[in-house]
Amino acid sequence: MSVKTVICVLWAVSVGQTAGSQHGPNIIIMLMDDMGWGDLGVFGEPSKETPNLDLMAAQGMLFPNFYTANPLCSPCMCCFWACLYLSITMSLFGILAYCCLLHITVCCGKTLCDLSCSYGDAVMELDDSIGQILAHLVSLGIHNNTLVFFTSDNGAAVMSGPHQSGSNGPFLCGKETTFEGGMREPAIAWWPGRIPAGTVSHQLASVMDLFSTSLSVAGVLPPDDRVIDGLDLSPVLINNSLLDRPIFYYRGNQMMAVRIGQYKVHYWTWSNSWEEFNTGINFCPGQEVPGVTTHTQEEHTMQPLIFHLGQDPGERYPISVQSEEYQDVHRQVTAVVEQHQKDLIPGMPQLNMCDLAVMNWSPPGCEQLGKCLKPPESNPWKCVWPH
Ligand SMILES: *[C@@H]1O[C@H](CO)[C@@H](O)[C@H](O)[C@H]1NC(C)=O
Ligand SMILES: *[C@@H]1O[C@H](CO)[C@@H](O)[C@H](O)[C@H]1NC(C)=O
Repeated sequence: MSVKTVICVLWAVSVGQTAGSQHGPNIIIMLMDDMGWGDLGVFGEPSKETPNLDLMAAQGMLFPNFYTANPLCSPCMCCFWACLYLSITMSLFGILAYCCLLHITVCCGKTLCDLSCSYGDAVMELDDSIGQILAHLVSLGIHNNTLVFFTSDNGAAVMSGPHQSGSNGPFLCGKETTFEGGMREPAIAWWPGRIPAGTVSHQLASVMDLFSTSLSVAGVLPPDDRVIDGLDLSPVLINNSLLDRPIFYYRGNQMMAVRIGQYKVHYWTWSNSWEEFNTGINFCPGQEVPGVTTHTQEEHTMQPLIFHLGQDPGERYPISVQSEEYQDVHRQVTAVVEQHQKDLIPGMPQLNMCDLAVMNWSPPGCEQLGKCLKPPESNPWKCVWPH
């Protein structure tokens, strides 16, 4: 079985960009597919398969508390949306934006994997490509004017088994769930000369922030006719400031949990259904926590489960309901949730159409392997997600 890895690269390039020019910076967003928090050497992966990403972190800023907006594949939707928006806005400023979607179907590099190919091989290929991209920026002399942000779309798909998925480090469960393993992502920001090298930001941040941050560093004002959920992280990147903000964990339209500071408060728990579980699909293999990784959708809104992620990153030991700590956190989070629900304007999904024809049937390099596939006829339909 091949491991498919997707990078969405959003590259907004100023026309005639040269080192030290007065134009806004280049922005590159690298969004990995299903890469887990624990896959990077810099986050403790023991086999050290990511020397280039580790170096990127050493030259930039590491985010151990970075989240995706959704625990399953929203990646390219979000990327496309951002691209679309930036290209419209930036063209007004004489900046050319283009978007390229690069699918690397792994088992491509004959050098690294011959007959079989594991997730680790895929990660090494990716790491190597990222090293080449950064080296190229340096060779062009535009690294001081280029913000590169690396992250992943959701946690590792641990249901696929240890050889076909990544690692979520110390975190509970994986992709599709709102436990930390599903939504906490590896993240690195790199911008030599602007982002101080070798820094770690403990900012609670989200992939949604990349939109507001990109506009800010490009000097573009966001539209003021709507609420934008993302935060402008430029004070974090440039000055290592800490901004107070909650993180909301959604599964479909359901707000499942909220994080404030080190505390995570679960209003609903669910791993997957008994029906799915009984067919052998396990989102939390070897990690069942009674009353937490539930197979029915359990409501805890009257008495949420609260964990201290600093002391208990694996979400195993709920804080006692009787404790003062629990009461304090509960009081604080209730105010945050009430405000959130008051401000929330439910959106209509705009990117919920599926079409097999737009999948990447012939990734670069498929000719050499004789594995290019002919795309089927376009036949779009409205997708229905089970979760
Ligand atoms: C980029 O910034 C670094 C660090 O401030 C500096 O040493 C280097 O000379 C700069 N390079 C260019 C091409 O401006
Ligand atoms: C960083 O701090 C400096 C000095 O306080 C300030 O002038 C600058 O605006 C800050 N930059 C950002 C992006 O917050």
